[in-house]
This record gives sequence, structure tokens and C-alpha cells, in this order.
Amino acid sequence: MGALVALVTGAAQGLGAAIARRLHEDGFRVALGDLNSPEAERVAAELDPAGETARAFGLDVADADSIEAAFARVTEVWGQPDVLVNNAGVTVKRSLWEITVDEWDAVLDTNLRSYFVLSRLAAAGMRDRGWGRIVNVSSFAGQQGGLVAGAHYAASKAGILVLTKIFARELAGDGVTVNAITPAAVRTPAMDDDEVTRLGAGIPVGRVGQPQEIAAAVAYLVGPDSGYVTGATLDLNGGLFMR
Ligand SMILES: NC(=O)c1ccc[n+]([C@@H]2O[C@H](COP(=O)([O-])OP(=O)(O)OC[C@H]3O[C@@H](n4cnc5c(N)ncnc54)[C@H](O)[C@@H]3O)[C@@H](O)[C@H]2O)c1
Repeated sequence: MGALVALVTGAAQGLGAAIARRLHEDGFRVALGDLNSPEAERVAAELDPAGETARAFGLDVADADSIEAAFARVTEVWGQPDVLVNNAGVTVKRSLWEITVDEWDAVLDTNLRSYFVLSRLAAAGMRDRGWGRIVNVSSFAGQQGGLVAGAHYAASKAGILVLTKIFARELAGDGVTVNAITPAAVRTPAMDDDEVTRLGAGIPVGRVGQPQEIAAAVAYLVGPDSGYVTGATLDLNGGLFMR
């Protein structure tokens, strides 16, 4: 039997790429799912040019058929994933008054419905095999409203938190854990230096997070020592929100 298989969505850049890199380093075979296939392929090739332990799988998480097709391709190549990291999402900056109903639907489909569809697909096999790990990337915005993003984004991220608990309870007796992480501001390619400085100044530890710090938390949640942690929300926010 080969190494465990981890499917990471939105793995072409940002947090998803950092998570994919870390899980690969930790010995997983990593399936990098993303809309941006060329970039996902670039990251996969950087991890393993031979494509034996890292591979890109094109998918649009806003489209349930595309999710199913990508899941089937991963399964065909490596078998069903043992680990799922739902990370792909869009961040849309818009005031409450400017959000159109179509934009609301598009953000919710990409950020929330996708987690439901893919988790349910992956969880069935995990449950049957008696082991699995699901990590849902939510956000501080889902707890307190966003630092930068709109109400649709925040609502999608709040939805992820309760979905996490529902899946966790459903699967707790089957060796499958389901947890959420709530980063606040993490440095990604989309942020310029001014934004990094401005956001960092408002965070108690005095800086934005690094993608590797988020990846390390995910590595714990999908690893062998976290079997007693399920339904949890792990705050990764530099002290911005304490409870
Ligand atoms: N960066 C932060 O400060 C921060 C804070 C809190 C939460 N998050 C969450 O972390 C996750 C990753 O964020 P990021 O900052 O790395 O974003 P990013 O925009 O840098 O990367 C997102 C990735 O998802 C992919 N993607 C977007 N729509 C997709 C779709 N429909 N199907 C498949 N792939 C798609 C993109 O191509 C991209 O590779 C998101 O869920 C985001 O909400 C980020």
C-alpha cells in the first residue's frame, strides 16, 4: 500500500499551495485540485516532477459535476483520498449595499456548497475504511465579519463552521475527524506590502500570518496525533479574536 492520499483544493497558490507542500513533505501523496490547472501543475511538478506523489487535478468547486469528475479521477489514479482539505474559495470585497443576488449565489456556491459536496463524497469512503481527516478552511470573517471581505464571504465562512460540526458528529464513531481553521490575515500573493503592513498593525502579535503557519496547523489536524480533536474550530489569527 502506498502513502495516504490527501486532496487539497485551491492548491495552485496561497494557503492551499503551502498546505499541499507541507503535506507532501509529511509523506502524503498530494492531489492538488484547482481551477487554475497550469499553476497547480507547476506546484505539483515542483513537488514531484514524476507525478507519482503529487499531481494536479483540474476542478471548479463551484460546479458539483466538476467536483465529482475530479474526485473520480483522483480515485482512479490513487484510490479515494484519506485526507481532504477544503480550501478553495473566493474573497470578494464589496459593501453590504453593493452585493447582487447573483454574486451572493456565486460566492456561496464556491465557498460553501463546494465544501458540502466534496466532504460528502470523500466522507463516505473514509467512513467505510474507518479512518479519515477533513479540514475545512474557514475564516475569522465567519466568526466576526470580515477584515476586508463582504457579507457573502463572511456568511459562507460561518456556514462552514456549522457544517464542520455536523459532519464531525456524523463521523465521530467511524475514525473520521472533521475540523475547521479560522485564519485572519495571512500573507498571500494577492496582498501588497502596504496591505500586509496595515493589516499586521491591527493584529495583537503585530503581523499577518505566514502560509506555512497555517499549513503546520493543518498538518497536525490531518496527522496521527489528532484523533481526539473533532468538530473543533482552530483560531489562527495572531490573537485578533479570543474566546
Ligand atoms: N489569505 C488570508 O488572509 C485568508 C484568511 C482567512 C481565510 N482564508 C481562506 O483561505 C483559503 C485560501 O485563500 P488564499 O488567500 O490562499 O486565496 P488565493 O486566492 O490566493 O487562492 C485561492 C485558490 O483557490 C482557487 N480557486 C478559486 N476558485 C476556485 C474554484 N471555483 N474551483 C477551484 N479552485 C478555485 C484559485 O485558483 C486559487 O489557486 C480560502 O478559503 C480563503 O477564504 C484566507
